[in-house]
Amino acid sequence: MVNFIFQEVDPTHKNIRLTVDQDGIATITICRASKLNALNFQTIEDIRWAMQQVYEREDIKSVIITGEGTKAFAAGADIAELVKMDEVNAKRYSQNGQDVYAMLENCTKPVIAAVNGYALGGGCELALACHMRVAVENAKFGLPEVKLGTLPGFGGTQRLTQSIGKAKTLELIMTGDSLSAKEAKELGLVNHVVSSQENLMKKCKEILLKISSSGPLAVEMVIKSVNAVYSSQERGYQKEAQYFGWSAGTHDFHEGMQAFLEKRKPEFKGK
Ligand code: COA
Repeated sequence: MVNFIFQEVDPTHKNIRLTVDQDGIATITICRASKLNALNFQTIEDIRWAMQQVYEREDIKSVIITGEGTKAFAAGADIAELVKMDEVNAKRYSQNGQDVYAMLENCTKPVIAAVNGYALGGGCELALACHMRVAVENAKFGLPEVKLGTLPGFGGTQRLTQSIGKAKTLELIMTGDSLSAKEAKELGLVNHVVSSQENLMKKCKEILLKISSSGPLAVEMVIKSVNAVYSSQERGYQKEAQYFGWSAGTHDFHEGMQAFLEKRKPEFKGK
């Protein structure tokens, strides 16, 4: 088994692009369009690096995270990597992703996901970790991990429940169904739906500029106070990572991932 957690991280951060405009709005763009911006370990670490920049740099006032191209925000964790994992690596991979996503959630500068297409699996979880979500009307949201023989591992079981409630979360995660942008908005998962890619960044910037006209300390205290509603729920994240790791020891996990890569229907055995 490949030990992804300790593999060397490329210091050039080639899987993301970080730009900062004259208003201090940083844009983090995931750049793996040929793989629908699937989040491999390197990309997760590149997002960690970008968020460290956001935390440390005074010229950065707020953040937009988006995906390259017009098809995907991010189509999930990279299945070609996951398929190779054992229980220990999968648990640590999950915990590592949870840690990076917590950097978005706990950032004291506003963070908006500009969802430009598929936001599935780890991509949906990434959007959920942001303070707000703006989506183009053809965007799709979903946590389809059960179809691969596993469960969401980057906080999705926790944050989707916080966002849309228990019954709808269970339905979506157990069926693996996707939501259109319109449905996601009706459920309160998405703040705004826009008609085109051009309007996506425009809307995100409009919101961030409005926020930046108020005092940054007040905004920081709002983020911390709202996050505090959920701060005692650490156990749920630990359970999720534990089960994600455990699932990597099952036949169904490897069959589900392998079937996706071979573009065939999986044969699950329940073990
Ligand atoms: N991990 C790794 N590779 C992925 C990927 C993922 N999560 N999602 C897409 N890709 C790759 C495909 O393997 C394909 O690569 P190839 O061209 O080398 O064969 C490429 O991205 C394009 O994807 P493809 O499936 O051909 O596009 P599509 O338009 O037919 O379908 C989706 C789009 C999003 C419906 C489909 O790619 C999909 O279901 N992806 C997986 C979603 C998922 O289960 N995410 C949770 C992962 S834990």
